[in-house]
Amino acid sequence: MRAEIQPRILDIIPVSIRVRCKKHAEELHIDPGSFHLLTDCFIMELAHLEKCKFTPHTHATWAKFFKVVVDAISKQYH
Ligand code: HEM
Repeated sequence: MRAEIQPRILDIIPVSIRVRCKKHAEELHIDPGSFHLLTDCFIMELAHLEKCKFTPHTHATWAKFFKVVVDAISKQYH
């Protein structure tokens, strides 16, 4: 079965991350460049766990998902 992201999930992420976004920017002072490094690590770990099942399509699907997460958590920095 090909992995797909439900469009509704992509709509919910920015809303659910908004509070954490402020915290990472204003309280924790996290370098926004670290967010995509962290999500790249998640993708590498997923590839390691899934082995041959981690196809280019799976990779692209996770990359799309994490792009929305990183955009959402980085919002307070723009
Ligand atoms: C995709 C990126 C990230 C997401 C979605 C994320 C999400 C979260 C969430 C949900 C929490 C809990 C917040 C709360 O208690 O209300 C948290 C806490 C925290 N995050 Fe992140 N995070 C991300 C990246 C990072 C990075 C890159 C760092 C540091 C380099 C970081 C440092 C921290 C720290 C130190 C806390 C603990 C705050 C506390 O103890 O109150 N996060 N993060």
